[in-house]
Parts: sequence; C-alpha cells; structure tokens
Amino acid sequence: MFIITYKKMKQIGFFIVFILIVFGFYETFVNINNIQLFQFNKKVSSYERIKYSNDNDDNDDKLLINKDINTEAYDTDKIDIIDAKKRIKLLEDKLRKIEGKISLRIPKNYPTVKFLNYKNRKRILVTGGAGFVGSHLVDRLMLEGHEVIAADNFLTGRKRNVEHWVGHENFELVHHDIVRPLYLEVDEIYHLASPASPPHYMLNPVKTLKTNTIGTINMLGLAKRVGARVLIASTSEVYGDPTEHPQSETYWGHVNPIGPRACYDEGKRVAETLSYAYMHQEGVEVRVARIFNTFGPRMHMNDGRVVSNFILQALQNDSITIYGNGNQTRSFQYVSDLVDGLVSLMSSNYSQPINIGNPVEHTIKEFAIMIKNLVGGVSKIVELAAVEDDPQRRKPNIDRAKKYLNWQPKVSLNNGLKITINYFSKELKKTKHSQKDALRVPYINDHDIVEQL
Ligand SMILES: NC(=O)c1ccc[n+]([C@@H]2O[C@H](COP(=O)([O-])OP(=O)(O)OC[C@H]3O[C@@H](n4cnc5c(N)ncnc54)[C@H](O)[C@@H]3O)[C@@H](O)[C@H]2O)c1
Repeated sequence: MFIITYKKMKQIGFFIVFILIVFGFYETFVNINNIQLFQFNKKVSSYERIKYSNDNDDNDDKLLINKDINTEAYDTDKIDIIDAKKRIKLLEDKLRKIEGKISLRIPKNYPTVKFLNYKNRKRILVTGGAGFVGSHLVDRLMLEGHEVIAADNFLTGRKRNVEHWVGHENFELVHHDIVRPLYLEVDEIYHLASPASPPHYMLNPVKTLKTNTIGTINMLGLAKRVGARVLIASTSEVYGDPTEHPQSETYWGHVNPIGPRACYDEGKRVAETLSYAYMHQEGVEVRVARIFNTFGPRMHMNDGRVVSNFILQALQNDSITIYGNGNQTRSFQYVSDLVDGLVSLMSSNYSQPINIGNPVEHTIKEFAIMIKNLVGGVSKIVELAAVEDDPQRRKPNIDRAKKYLNWQPKVSLNNGLKITINYFSKELKKTKHSQKDALRVPYINDHDIVEQL
C-alpha cells in the first residue's frame, strides 16, 4: 500500500522545484538565442546595403550570410574586407599612373626597319654616333636593316639624338672614348668621332689632336684586325684658307700649322695620311670623305657655327652677328644629302678622297638676310671684327662625287633651312619650358623624387 509519509512529500516537492528550475533555464536560453539571431540579421542587412552601394560583386557575400558564423568575428572580417578593397583600389590607381609614365618614356614603337637576311645584314660601327651627323647616319643604317653600334664619349654628342633606337634589337649605344682601343667584330666602320665646330675643338686642342690621330689609328687598327672597310670623316678644313677656288680634291691646301684651327685642320690631315698608310702598308680598305659645311636638325645650339648662330639670333630677335664684312662665302649642304653621300662612298669602289658638299655658294651676308626673312622678326644684322684664320672662300668641286658615286645634293637651301628653323624653335620652347620647371619647389632628397614617380 502506498502511504504518503512526510518524508515522501518532501522528496516530491524537491523534484517539482528541480523540474521548474530546469524549465526556467531552458526558457531563458531560448530567449537569448532569439535576440541574438534578430541582431545578427539586422547587421547582415545593413552590411549588405554598404556592400551593394560600394561594389556590385555579390558572390562572396552570399557565403557570409550564414547563421553559424560568430557575429563578432564576422563584424571584424567585413570591416577588414572593406578596408582591404579600398587599399587595393588606391594601389591600382597608383600603378596605373606609373604605367602611364613608363610607357611615355620607353618608346615601344620603333621606326619600321627593313628586314635584311643574314647574308645582306652588316654589322656597322659608327664612331661619334650620338653626334649631329652620326645620329642621322645611324638612322639611315638602322632603317636599311643593318646592325648598328654607335660609340661615343658624349663630348659634344647627346643620348637624346639616338634615344629612339635604344632597346632595339639591331642597335647598341656604347659609351667609349676612341682614344682608347675598341675591340668589336664589325664589317664596316664610319669614323666620325671628333669635335667639329671651332669652339668645341679649340676648347681642348690636345684632345682634338689625340682623337684625330690616336683615335684614327685605333679605328684603322680595328679595321685591319677584323677586315672591315673604314670611312674617315675628313673635312674641307684640310684646304685651310684656300688659294684655289672652287676646291677640288687635288688641291693640297693652305693651312696654318700653328694657328688656332690647326689642332682640327692638321689633325684631319694626319687622319687622311694615316688612312692611306694603313691602306698601302696593311691592305685596309679606306674611304675618305672631305665634308663641307653641313646643317640640319640636331646640330648643336650655341656651337658658334654660322647657321645655328644666325637661326638662334633671329628666333630670339637678337642682332644677327657677322664676323668681318660678310663678303666671305660658304656653301651649306643639308644633312640628309651628306648621309646619302657617305653611304654611297662606303659602298663604292673608289678609295681616293671625295668632296661631299653643296656647291651653291652664298656670302655670309646673304645667309643672314635669308634666315632673317625665313624666321621673320625684327633682328638687325651687325658686323663684328673678323676672326683669325677664317677662310674667305669655301666651295666644293663635286665632279668626283658625281662621276664615281653618282651623287649630288638634292635638298635646296631654302627647304633645309625651314626644317632646321622649325627644329631650333622647338628646342627653344623646350628650354623655356624646363626653365619654368626649375622655378618649382626643388626636390629635397631622393624620396621626393620617388614620390613624384
Ligand atoms: N658638321 C659639319 O659641318 C662637318 C663638316 C666637316 C666635317 N665634319 C666631320 O664630321 C664628323 C661629325 O661631325 P658633327 O658635325 O656631327 O659633330 P658632332 O660634334 O655633333 O659629333 C661628333 C661626335 O663625336 C663624339 N666624339 C668626340 N670625340 C670623341 C672621342 N674621343 N671618342 C668618342 N666620341 C667622340 C662627340 O661626342 C660627338 O657625338 C666629325 O668628324 C667632323 O669633323 C663635320
């Protein structure tokens, strides 16, 4: 029989209280979860709004809406992702700017060069290849499809003159002083390295002599070693202040051996003598071009030569200065005509000296007037004291070039001057532009420069 004792009633009471406590705990737990789930959903929907307003990419975010994710960790993660995306965007913008600048500096599109097969392609060395004439010659040889090495010590030449070829598979620019030997494997050598304008060659007469003597020996020695043909860039200055007019190649010249121009004039005369000594004694194939005054783009500004002087003075409305009475004559050829002549001479069988110049003769005064009229402006023409040893007449006889090279100048003085004036006027604008740049806040250190990149 079931008798309810006081002890049993106490046990039943404890059991009921226990059940109530357990049930109470369960209720509380379920409520908390509901509240958390509600808050979680609220946060997710606000994040989705931010997300969709920033970005249209929704794939990653569907994965994020997962009820099992710890909400705090999720909160931190999404902030990190937003931050990271912002930083990536900033970096992408910077990278795009840098790429833009780099593509401006490295010309990706080289001028189109002809393809020559192994048999016809030559390896050609141009000494003084970064100079005025040298760089135009490099252009011609490159366009014809040859492999060209330009060697230069940048005394008067500039990298800018050949920068459009830098990086091309057929081109190499070598920083080298030809007074030191140069060991290369080449088929032809155009030996142009030498300062060419009076202020440049008079600046260091000993070096001018070394370049034209020791430098020429080095080039002739290289030609002998590798069996290359060598063309020497001589000059009309070997005729000095001529007593014969016009000057033909048979004329021996009238040079002052100790005057201010002697380092150049005599240097070139020795270069010619060396060439024929190597030809007769060592069997080296030589070509000698006696180059007359040449002008064109890339000639030096402020080098004291007639054409550059007059053009610059006229463009800046300064007085056009003539040394002496202006009745001394010159004949000027345009640079592309000279390049034609040099290339024809190199490929010809003719080994005696050849004049390459334009026989159309003008007085210096006529040049001054011509340039003043082409430029326009208000420059006056003024006469200054005559210069020592300045040749009075200079005009080539080009019968040999016509006969053996089938060469004669094609570009008229007028057309050549127009192109050159245009070049100088652009150069002047660049100079003014860079002077303006110099007024900006200077860089303090290399970090500033890196920042600007
Ligand atoms: N331009 C003319 O009117 C003219 C007339 C007659 C002869 N030439 C001859 O044509 C050649 C080219 O003349 P340019 O007008 O182009 O002169 P340029 O001064 O522009 O070129 C000469 C080049 O030779 C380089 N050079 C000088 N000494 C050197 C050395 N020791 N080692 C390596 N490189 C050196 C210079 O840096 C320069 O790039 C010269 O030999 C010059 O005597 C020119």
